[in-house]
Amino acid sequence: MRAAVCTPGRRDSVRVIDIDRPRCREGEALVRVHMAGVDGTDEDINAGLYGEAPEGCDFLVIGHEAVGIVEAVGAGVRCTRPGDAVVATVRRPCPGRCLNCRNHQPDFCITGDYLERGIKGLHGYMAEYYSESMDYLIGLPHELLDTGCLLEPLSVAEKGIFEAFRIQQRVLWEPRRALVLGAGPLGLLATFILRDMGLETYTLATRERGSIKARAAEASGARYIDVNAEPLDSLPKKYGQFDLIVDATGFSTFAFESMGLVNRNGIVCMAGLSPGKKEHSMPTDRINMEMVLNNKAAFGTVSASRRDFEKSVDRMLSIRKKWPGLMEKLFTKKESLVNAPRALRRDEEDIKAAVVVS
Ligand code: BGC
Ligand code: ZN
Repeated sequence: MRAAVCTPGRRDSVRVIDIDRPRCREGEALVRVHMAGVDGTDEDINAGLYGEAPEGCDFLVIGHEAVGIVEAVGAGVRCTRPGDAVVATVRRPCPGRCLNCRNHQPDFCITGDYLERGIKGLHGYMAEYYSESMDYLIGLPHELLDTGCLLEPLSVAEKGIFEAFRIQQRVLWEPRRALVLGAGPLGLLATFILRDMGLETYTLATRERGSIKARAAEASGARYIDVNAEPLDSLPKKYGQFDLIVDATGFSTFAFESMGLVNRNGIVCMAGLSPGKKEHSMPTDRINMEMVLNNKAAFGTVSASRRDFEKSVDRMLSIRKKWPGLMEKLFTKKESLVNAPRALRRDEEDIKAAVVVS
């Protein structure tokens, strides 16, 4: 079968090759991939900054956001059958099974030895087929096939927002206004979730107000802010403070400066990764004082567990019902599997690129 692979550590190494079709063992399902999304992590992998091949292999099948159809099931599988639509989670437990890995939350793995399909030590899903244990497959209605590869990034946003609410149980808290930094897929999906929850939401990025990212944010009822026209520190005067801030840029200057914009008792959720590290000079003393004096919280969040994926199925149904066609609009580029390397080259206005496999 064909698969998009890379040589971890080597720049621009993504290519399509022929490899053996995986076998479907006991307790597993063989999944025919329908569509696989590309995200910033895939771009970082293709830039040679990230990614790890499975032990004993010199390449890594990329892709960790995919929707597919069950083709066959192994012995002992009863809860799914051929024809079902599924999405697989990304993280797998560490070999020693730490407390959280044992507790089905490898996204909170304590050791750091977790594996991630398509990223760290395990092949991914950007191929014609993959095989996976039922423990890690999430069923979804067929009507979600065309946006199903957004379930993974949606689950990451869902987890971050859910965590914020859990941490905020430290106090009686009724958030009204949210700010999302970034209007890439993660930022827009976070925007849709917050709007779906009924929060007054502002989405900030570097594109102009008429850009397609701005229009996608505003279609859900959020207000779009072009940070070049309205810098971060000018926002409180204009719009007031924000109860919940989600950083989906990984640009640390934004993430840290936003701590100055969060309301009393508010919270900042840092969900953006920044492997291409840069050093920035920051007004850290001022931020420190504001955090302390105002009981603010900030936290980091990564990956998602089965629970978050399951919640995201309902969320996706709800978003699609409220704003028909909006999720579909995030796909600004679609390529066939043989052209997967093209999907990894981002154009200026791209939101989400996807590889259509079958
Ligand atoms: C994935 C996460 C993963 C992270 C770090 C993200 O793109 O969505 O599941 O944990 O990359 O590897
Ligand atoms: Zn672990």
